[in-house]
Amino acid sequence: MLAAFVSTPAPKDPLSVLEVGDRPEPEAPDGWTTIEVKAASLNHHDLFSLRGVGLPAEKMPMILGCDAAGIDEDGNEVVVHAVISSPDWRGDETLDPKRSLLSEVHQGTLAERVAVPRRNLLPKPADLSFAEAACLPTAWLTAYRMLFVRSGLRPGQTVLVQGASGGVATALIVLGRAAGYRIWVTGRSEEKRAAALALGADQAFESGARLPERVDGVMETVGEATWSHSVKSLKPGGVIVTSGATTGFNPGAELNRIFFTQLSVIGSTMGTRSELESLIQLCSVTGIRPEIDVELPLGQARDGFERMLEGRTAGKIVFTL
Ligand SMILES: NC(=O)c1ccc[n+]([C@@H]2O[C@H](COP(=O)([O-])OP(=O)(O)OC[C@H]3O[C@@H](n4cnc5c(N)ncnc54)[C@H](OP(=O)(O)O)[C@@H]3O)[C@@H](O)[C@H]2O)c1
Repeated sequence: MLAAFVSTPAPKDPLSVLEVGDRPEPEAPDGWTTIEVKAASLNHHDLFSLRGVGLPAEKMPMILGCDAAGIDEDGNEVVVHAVISSPDWRGDETLDPKRSLLSEVHQGTLAERVAVPRRNLLPKPADLSFAEAACLPTAWLTAYRMLFVRSGLRPGQTVLVQGASGGVATALIVLGRAAGYRIWVTGRSEEKRAAALALGADQAFESGARLPERVDGVMETVGEATWSHSVKSLKPGGVIVTSGATTGFNPGAELNRIFFTQLSVIGSTMGTRSELESLIQLCSVTGIRPEIDVELPLGQARDGFERMLEGRTAGKIVFTL
């Protein structure tokens, strides 16, 4: 079957090891089932995988992709929850030390078919397209958990989103706006800042700009390039929720500011199946939808990866089958 996959890591030149071609059909063990993928979205995670970050060479060849929407063996339209927990794990699966995302241990979703645990399937509402549904399990679920589960922030408070055009960033803007937060955004170009305003951000600033006032919370996925700005932009007692570090994992900690102004730094990762269910319901109730930058046939996956590597994003990049 057709798939986008990696056979050897390339830390410095990830696109040099991206392969789009033939891979064996998936085999579903007990309790698992095979989904016919209709749409799968691209995440920065897939670029990290090509670099070998979180995906060591001994796990390769590996089909990339965490997110999918498709059709199950009984003909139902489904969304796939991307967090694979241990078979005997109960409760919040993001806390299972042995959890993985599709494409880390088990073959991923950028393929014609993917094997997944039955308990990871959720019904796809008819009013969500396959492409929209395929954006929810990673970027959108991560944004949902950051804002609504982990942050402790209330509607009406001001939240700074670092980055304007990425998958998680655009999800944070749309979800935050729908829930009544005042969303401020930083973006690296005039075009990206204008797009963030069009999505519902209240104000958009250049990366690193001094803000008109300090904010209640910052949503961080950028890491080294923005961390110092995030710390400095918070009111005393403010909160940073971090779920990613695209530009590097080791910024200066700025401990003096963190303890002196009593900031909270909160980690957040993906979300639970039940949070994904709530997110799908939120889309139905409010009518909000993932911002899709471009839909490409899976055979043209390289174009999508190039866009993301070069930072030419404007929402989610989706591959269709
Ligand atoms: N922990 C989890 O469960 C989880 C889940 C999803 C994602 N993540 C992580 O979150 C990060 C974002 O993922 P994604 O899929 O949304 O990636 P993406 O679509 O490629 O978006 C990247 C974002 O980072 C910003 N950015 C990149 N370089 C920057 C720089 N030098 N200065 C300022 N901003 C910069 C971009 O801002 P502009 O808009 O200004 O270009 C853009 O908004 C990744 O590190 C990913 O691994 C983690």
